[in-house]
Amino acid sequence: MKLSFVLGVALVLSPLIVLAKFLPPEIISFEKVCENETLKFKRNDLIDFNEIEIISDSIECVVIRASMVQNANRNFDRLPNLKYLDVDLYSDSLGLNSLGNLTTVRALKFRNTGNYDVRVVEVQNEYPNLKYLDLSSNQIEKITSDVKNPFPEVRYLNLSWNYLNSLEFNYIFSNLSHLDLSGNTFNEFHWNLGRQNLSSLVLDSNQMTAIGSFYYPTVDLTDFYNLVNLSIADNKIHTILQDAFASTPNLRRLDLSRNSIKSLNSSTFQYLSNLEVLLLDGNLLSLIPEISANISTLSLNCNNITTVTRNSLLNLKTLRKLYLEGDNITYIDVDAFQNQILLEELYLGGNRLNFLPRLWCANMTNLRYLDLSWNKFTLLEAVTYSPNFPVNEINMEGNPLTFVHSSTFESMPKNVTISLNIGSEQLPRLCNRPV
Ligand SMILES: *[C@@H]1O[C@H](CO)[C@@H](O)[C@H](O)[C@H]1NC(C)=O
Ligand SMILES: *[C@@H]1O[C@H](CO)[C@@H](O)[C@H](O)[C@H]1NC(C)=O
Ligand SMILES: *[C@@H]1O[C@H](CO)[C@@H](O)[C@H](O)[C@H]1NC(C)=O
Ligand SMILES: *[C@@H]1O[C@H](CO)[C@@H](O)[C@H](O)[C@H]1NC(C)=O
Ligand SMILES: *[C@@H]1O[C@H](CO)[C@@H](O)[C@H](O)[C@H]1NC(C)=O
Ligand SMILES: *[C@@H]1O[C@H](CO)[C@@H](O)[C@H](O)[C@H]1NC(C)=O
Ligand SMILES: *[C@@H]1O[C@H](CO)[C@@H](O)[C@H](O)[C@H]1NC(C)=O
Ligand SMILES: *[C@@H]1O[C@H](CO)[C@@H](O)[C@H](O)[C@H]1NC(C)=O
Ligand SMILES: *[C@@H]1O[C@H](CO)[C@@H](O)[C@H](O)[C@H]1NC(C)=O
Ligand SMILES: *[C@@H]1O[C@H](CO)[C@@H](O)[C@H](O)[C@H]1NC(C)=O
Ligand SMILES: *[C@@H]1O[C@H](CO)[C@@H](O)[C@H](O)[C@H]1NC(C)=O
Ligand SMILES: *[C@@H]1O[C@H](CO)[C@@H](O)[C@H](O)[C@H]1NC(C)=O
Repeated sequence: MKLSFVLGVALVLSPLIVLAKFLPPEIISFEKVCENETLKFKRNDLIDFNEIEIISDSIECVVIRASMVQNANRNFDRLPNLKYLDVDLYSDSLGLNSLGNLTTVRALKFRNTGNYDVRVVEVQNEYPNLKYLDLSSNQIEKITSDVKNPFPEVRYLNLSWNYLNSLEFNYIFSNLSHLDLSGNTFNEFHWNLGRQNLSSLVLDSNQMTAIGSFYYPTVDLTDFYNLVNLSIADNKIHTILQDAFASTPNLRRLDLSRNSIKSLNSSTFQYLSNLEVLLLDGNLLSLIPEISANISTLSLNCNNITTVTRNSLLNLKTLRKLYLEGDNITYIDVDAFQNQILLEELYLGGNRLNFLPRLWCANMTNLRYLDLSWNKFTLLEAVTYSPNFPVNEINMEGNPLTFVHSSTFESMPKNVTISLNIGSEQLPRLCNRPV
């Protein structure tokens, strides 16, 4: 027997918390669209679409969270106003194409964790209104298309956590602004379709080894003039060519954490006059790279840096936050921070410091927060004796402080909070990587 759901306005009325979580601002108005009328299939249901037919002129949102779905062939074609479709299921047969034409759909999230073994997605239709497409965690190895321009309006494309190692798009994505390819098996990335308008590119957790345009496998950014955010964390990058960022002058945030970078050539950054945040955690740097850039945040946690010398930070005059935690720092030059007039927060936790040279912070009039936790300080005076000590808050947790002279407090310049947390013996796990 075939059951027909002919849906009136008031069938399922649960507010959609799921939606707000991942939809980007431009599409967030869907939350409103879906607010009052959403057809939801709950987890643990077995849905056999041979027995259900969904017909409704008004329904705009469908959310399926089923453990097993069968025979979904084109079942959504009877919803002429469908705008939002969020499918997370287990099925042995259901692929993108079996959802139907979805000509009215604007946001589509499709995830099948089942034994669906057709790992090549052949796009057969054009999705003329789709702006947001999330096909993450689908075991996709390859995407091909029979249609010339299947996603003309797509702005957000999430293909993360699949098995892709290349993009064989022979069509244009000129409206694409956000692309997430994390967790695939790329060892190079080229676009070759002319200048793109991408503003955010995420290539985390792949197998990239180099950045720049060159003949060996690289991340080639030549076509991404408008890129603002670039993340290539958790790869195997050891080489960054001089021209790597020559065509991305608009970059503001660059994350190269957890790669195999041993050194950086300062001229690499000469093109990045808009860069604000540079993250280099978990690499193999043994010196603070002598780069000149107008960045406000620099993060070098979990490298192998042993000293901060007077030249290390000389050309970084606009820093507000500096992270040097879990390195191997034993020594800091007295004038290492001479140009750090704007610095507000300094993180030096998890190193091997037992003193700071007198007047080391003389020029850091804006320093407010200082983290010296898990170092080797035995005396508080070794930190706070500077007459113009500007800091409001110091974290000294995990240091082998033996006693505190009462004179320490007399000479202490002003209202400052010091966290000692004596007795905490557990060293926090700072650097989660093999040494
Ligand atoms: C949803 O219902 C509420 C209360 O009935 C109403 O105020 C709101 O405008 C409705 N939202 C939409 C998008 O129709
Ligand atoms: C879906 O698309 C196919 C070919 O692209 C077309 O033949 C069919 O009529 C369409 N169905 C609907 C309901 O629009
Ligand atoms: C990009 O979007 C605009 C308007 O939203 C549309 O007219 C244009 O065709 C799209 N570009 C491509 C290449 O499809
Ligand atoms: C892409 O999908 C993954 C997994 O669902 C998610 O963690 C990630 O935040 C998404 N990326 C973007 C840019 O929304
Ligand atoms: C490029 O993207 C920006 C913002 O992401 C947008 O304002 C602009 O209109 C886009 N340009 C083209 C040619 O699509
Ligand atoms: C870039 O990343 C930052 C931090 O994650 C975020 O606040 C900002 O909106 C992103 N910008 C773009 C254009 O994606
Ligand atoms: C940076 O590259 C230039 C030009 O190739 C070279 O002369 C210079 O020695 C390099 N510097 C470092 C620190 O590698
Ligand atoms: C930093 O900013 C100053 C002044 O705005 C500018 O002259 C200089 O070229 C910038 N430096 C870099 C490396 O972008
Ligand atoms: C860190 O640097 C020291 C010398 O400064 C060297 O002996 C050690 O092998 C380095 N460790 C790693 C993991 O590179
Ligand atoms: C820290 O540096 C010392 C030499 O200064 C070196 O012997 C030691 O191996 C380094 N520790 C790590 C974890 O790299
Ligand atoms: C403070 O700045 C002045 C002028 O830039 C410089 O001469 C001096 O060495 C700096 N002092 C420290 C301790 O960095
Ligand atoms: C000291 O600083 C704390 C927090 O910054 C503030 O709440 C407190 O009022 C200050 N006390 C004095 C005496 O200035």
